[in-house]
Amino acid sequence: MKILVTGSTGTVGSEVVKELRKRNATVRAFVRSEGKGSDLPAEVEVAVGDLLDPVTVKKALDGVDKLYLLNAVTPDELTQGLIAYGLAKMFKLKQVVYHSVFEADRFKDVPHFASKLAIESALKQFDIPFTILRPNYFFQNDIRLKESLMGAGIYPIPLGRRGVSAVDVRDIAEAAAIALTTDGHEGKTYNLVGPRVLSGPDAASIWSGLLQKEISYMGEALDSWEEQMRKSTPAWMAFDLRVMFQGFLEHGFVAGYGDVKALTELLGHPPRGYEDFAKETALAWQNKGG
Ligand SMILES: NC(=O)c1ccc[n+]([C@@H]2O[C@H](COP(=O)([O-])OP(=O)(O)OC[C@H]3O[C@@H](n4cnc5c(N)ncnc54)[C@H](OP(=O)(O)O)[C@@H]3O)[C@@H](O)[C@H]2O)c1
Repeated sequence: MKILVTGSTGTVGSEVVKELRKRNATVRAFVRSEGKGSDLPAEVEVAVGDLLDPVTVKKALDGVDKLYLLNAVTPDELTQGLIAYGLAKMFKLKQVVYHSVFEADRFKDVPHFASKLAIESALKQFDIPFTILRPNYFFQNDIRLKESLMGAGIYPIPLGRRGVSAVDVRDIAEAAAIALTTDGHEGKTYNLVGPRVLSGPDAASIWSGLLQKEISYMGEALDSWEEQMRKSTPAWMAFDLRVMFQGFLEHGFVAGYGDVKALTELLGHPPRGYEDFAKETALAWQNKGG
């Protein structure tokens, strides 16, 4: 059983590769250049290509049984996803596990959610066995906040007061590996969520305790947040994320009844908690001299 993993050099994909290898699955990793594959475990086969280039995707899919499909947030995410899915159909793969997003069907005005909803809809239309993973906001997004938390003392993410059921990327990767290597996941959609609802003020308070200093929640002024984001990301992405956060502020991004229990059953353990992730991260920062 050989599995092609896209996004294998990224935050989630690299963990998915590790979890698959723990289960002795044969993995082919799709990477954008030879050099990018050098950090992958030695037993992992590498296929070089680009998800916008069907010729390279076809070559990468030739000889594999299953596909773990993760697309980065790009303006052509839908095209990239449907190229990979269309070719997976041609090869009549045994399963596609698709990395979508929590409540993809609720945030219809958010471009990267809308792309995922369209890809989910294609998966449901045809007869290739599929499993959809819908992860909530990643804990690991906050690894990028070192400077803001340790320096200015600000938690700068507008998570809102209703909050999000953020999830650890390691639980997402485990869920993906379980769905790819065990039976009974065909046609299923799994919401991947953390055990508690985390609001912006909650996050600030957790970091205050861990870093032993006052951390304030930046608040919810999305115009200035988007303007700030444009300094480090393309304008289309700053806008896309702004619309997403607007949705979080308006109605939250919160697990439904039974989601945590279902994920606990899938993983065989409760999902990891934000406090533990934050503790680990703070320790790593402090050990590196802040
Ligand atoms: N962050 C969140 O809170 C969150 C929550 C739910 C869902 N999601 C979804 O999770 C996905 C992002 O996952 P991630 O954080 O693991 O992403 P990431 O760390 O940004 O990694 C993206 C991966 O995709 C690869 N890639 C980008 N463009 C490509 C292309 N044209 N062809 C082939 N490979 C390409 C990158 O390769 P290189 O290494 O060469 O760049 C990298 O391996 C997105 O779909 C996002 O919507 C995110």
